[in-house]
Amino acid sequence: MTTCFRPHPDGPGDPADPADAPTPLGPPWPAGATASPSGDLSIGGVSLAEAADRFGTPLYVLDEAELRARCRDYRAAFPEAEVLYAAKAFLSSAVAGWVAEEGLGLDVCSEGELRLAAAAGFPPERILLHGNAKSPEELRLARRLRVGRIAVDNHAEITRLAALTLADVPQRVLVRVVPEVAAGHHEAVRTGVTGQKFGFALEGGDAAEAVRRVLEQPGLILAGLHCHLGSQITSTEPYLTAVDRLVALLAEIRDRHGVQVPELDLGGGHGVPYLPGERGLDPHHLADALHGRLAEQCALHRLDLPRLLLEPGRAVVASAGVALYRVLTVKTGADGRVFAAVDGGMSDNPRPALYGSRYCARLAGRAPAAGAALREVDVVGRHCEAGDVLVRAARLPADLRPGDLLAVPAAGAYQLSMASGYNLVGRPAVAAVRDGRARLLIRRETVEDFRAREVHA
Ligand code: LLP
Repeated sequence: MTTCFRPHPDGPGDPADPADAPTPLGPPWPAGATASPSGDLSIGGVSLAEAADRFGTPLYVLDEAELRARCRDYRAAFPEAEVLYAAKAFLSSAVAGWVAEEGLGLDVCSEGELRLAAAAGFPPERILLHGNAKSPEELRLARRLRVGRIAVDNHAEITRLAALTLADVPQRVLVRVVPEVAAGHHEAVRTGVTGQKFGFALEGGDAAEAVRRVLEQPGLILAGLHCHLGSQITSTEPYLTAVDRLVALLAEIRDRHGVQVPELDLGGGHGVPYLPGERGLDPHHLADALHGRLAEQCALHRLDLPRLLLEPGRAVVASAGVALYRVLTVKTGADGRVFAAVDGGMSDNPRPALYGSRYCARLAGRAPAAGAALREVDVVGRHCEAGDVLVRAARLPADLRPGDLLAVPAAGAYQLSMASGYNLVGRPAVAAVRDGRARLLIRRETVEDFRAREVHA
């Protein structure tokens, strides 16, 4: 027994004692995340309790090594493909830099994302501009910055882009096709079917018509076909069906126009685990399945293999992020339900309220009292809505109390990028961790930021 060397719950413990060795947390936490017997959690070699003390809460901590490892995974799984990080999952100058250094391209879908990427020095030829409603200004900006590709989503855009490119260098474009494949974690994110706003329908020939129009414009180069099926997809099957349909369209284009279109962009949507025991879509598994099917379909239609493009967002950044909240109250309702209210909420993570998304949470910074069992607790936010629930039925120690720190993993994607100014709470700070050091990437939003936008007569 090592009882006498067991650390005091508030103490640092004895690193020489194996009982004090940190244990790895495993998915959905970042690869290097550990828990010490004293209850502290660390990622990137940084104690989450110390990060919370230093930067305040709510705080989003981004593990740089984890994000870079995910990029490398994709590059290793798809060495001959072009992998573009979907900036909509989360973008900051630092993230743009890491992604660029890891050799990925960038998918942007607004003037803001495009300007931030350009200001961060992201190579423009590796940027792809998306969007179903690009303004003429956005298109002009993309042209001025010389972005590598623009995905056209509607006929008006083809006309505008054709006019912009007439007396200028040609623009490589992708035609966004709706392949009639339904996939994704929620109806709101299923973009591969008719009945939603994106792309040109395969059925009825609209996609073929868009291709014809692009080919007839001297300023446009048809670089490839694109589709994006949906988000948080955990099986390869939908992608394989999309390959079948898009390769058939490539063959039709070859037969009708005598053109072999060189690129096939299958969008993003690769699922990640949010809860222990869940599985994501492994890039290597996806690569094996896609390469096999693509080779088979191209042989069937006697086509050269197109170059693959992929646009993972969530799968690159989700696991790198951990959200930290301070517990403000613990309340037991008349029905026995326990609520732990924290200092963040739906303004920093709208996903549970929007999609019913599930998360888990863990006590950080101290060990539970001896004998404290786990019980179900709803971790709720501080906003003025009953639906402001961050983690439904979290398993947390029965001695959870005000002042405790809670950590929520898999927080890197679509939380901060969809954060709002609700109740003027202000968006959280973001800190990066790496090799035992933490640095602030984005400071907390304050009421002064809100006031600064007001115009006082
Ligand atoms: N490419 C295109 C054209 C997209 O529209 C998207 C996501 C992606 C790539 C990246 O998808 P990912 O690999 O991240 O799944 N707010 C929702 C997700 C919306 C995804 C929108 N488009 C959520 O929180 O689940």
